[in-house]
Amino acid sequence: MVEQVYLKHIGQHVGSEVEIRGWLYNKRSSGKILFLIIRDGTDLIQGVVVKSEVPQEVFEGAKRLTQESSLIVRGVVREEPRAVSGYELAVTDLEIVQLAEEYPITPKEHGVEYLLDRRHLWLRSRKQHAIMLVRNELIKATRKFFDERDFVLIDAPILTPASVEGTTTLFETDYFDDKAYLSQSGQLYMEAAAMAFGKVYCFGPTFRAEKSKTRRHLMEFWMIEPEMAFYDQEDNMKLQEEYVSYLVQHVLEHCQKELAVLERDITKLEKVVPPFPRLSYDQAVEMLQKNGSDIQWGEDLGAPDETIIANHFDKPVFIYGFPTEIKAFYFKPDPQRPEIVLGSDLLAPEGYGEIIGGGERIADLDLIVQRIREHNLPEEHYQWYIDLRKYGSVPHSGFGLGLERTVAWICGLAHLREAIPFPRMLNRIYP
Ligand code: 4AD
Ligand code: MG
Repeated sequence: MVEQVYLKHIGQHVGSEVEIRGWLYNKRSSGKILFLIIRDGTDLIQGVVVKSEVPQEVFEGAKRLTQESSLIVRGVVREEPRAVSGYELAVTDLEIVQLAEEYPITPKEHGVEYLLDRRHLWLRSRKQHAIMLVRNELIKATRKFFDERDFVLIDAPILTPASVEGTTTLFETDYFDDKAYLSQSGQLYMEAAAMAFGKVYCFGPTFRAEKSKTRRHLMEFWMIEPEMAFYDQEDNMKLQEEYVSYLVQHVLEHCQKELAVLERDITKLEKVVPPFPRLSYDQAVEMLQKNGSDIQWGEDLGAPDETIIANHFDKPVFIYGFPTEIKAFYFKPDPQRPEIVLGSDLLAPEGYGEIIGGGERIADLDLIVQRIREHNLPEEHYQWYIDLRKYGSVPHSGFGLGLERTVAWICGLAHLREAIPFPRMLNRIYP
């Protein structure tokens, strides 16, 4: 009985005959020898079929294989440093599961729209595969990080009656005789949960009808949102730098192969350790004006502004103390300077932009009601949120990390569309 193994573990089977179940990635022939590059979802291997060493039907079968045909192959594993994974399979037997039709994605270059139309197939390509494995590791590292620190995972609802991040980017849907919106953020629910469990986080999809076509925006993206009772903004920033460093170090440790496939310069990632530099919004505006930006105090940073700032540092950088005027209703104003808030953005290095937004929340009952009114939000939908300020209100803080922005940065991708399995963009909801 030949043992079925996954290529990820092939190194433990050198010298043995094994069975691999997968697909044909690529094929080369030199007459009497066929080189099959086989993938099984976990890795690739080069299978070698020698005409004189296998039954004729095995060699003929291998010759008929087309790109992405599914197959079951048996063979003896040997080390081969020159081959794709460092191992090679001396094929003894081969079964074709399905002979694939002519595959639309070939090793030649394709345009990105062509590939996005075939995202369901494109995911099989080596680079896309590597990106999704990094994404998977980031999620694993997230769970580990928060588990180790006694956070409780609390799931936030997706269908919600009210907005968190402003009313202009809501996706609306019918809710029987009423209206509902797809969640922009789980934050408000995490605030309730923090009062019940102390330290919590949610991880789920969030939705923004952003009518902008940029490489940093998706309509549907995944966010990790911790919320901590009794944390002030200083505690909050410390947790963020610890978390982001943990994510990067975890990927460096567990995704060496993937980072190599992506040709990522890992010396840049190795520098990501606490503490991170901090810049006040005032200082940021000054720095930007000196560098030719026409930003005025009171305006939000644009993507080019974020890049100018990030380029001054080789670690992620915090910008704190944004004008209250441009921030969401829930941010706590600085008691010393109410025109700015106790909140921050964390900008990734190398021009990848904001990966985290967060801050201390208003804990005071009168002030939260006042802010909800100033923002013209429908008060009746926020009664439960206001309640949290009536029954044992405490200082609390939290943040949201955008998973796709983080994947794009760590993998070195120019655009967020490759950082999520099936991107939802302004002009795209297929496949
Ligand atoms: O800064 P944002 O809007 O903050 C919030 O939603 C807070 N309620 C989070 C919290 O404190 N619990 O979004 C947080 C992060 C951004 O820094 C960015 O990484 C990501 O979410 N993000 C997007 N990612 C992809 N596409 C979009 N359209 C995004 N909008 C925000
Ligand atoms: Mg933000």
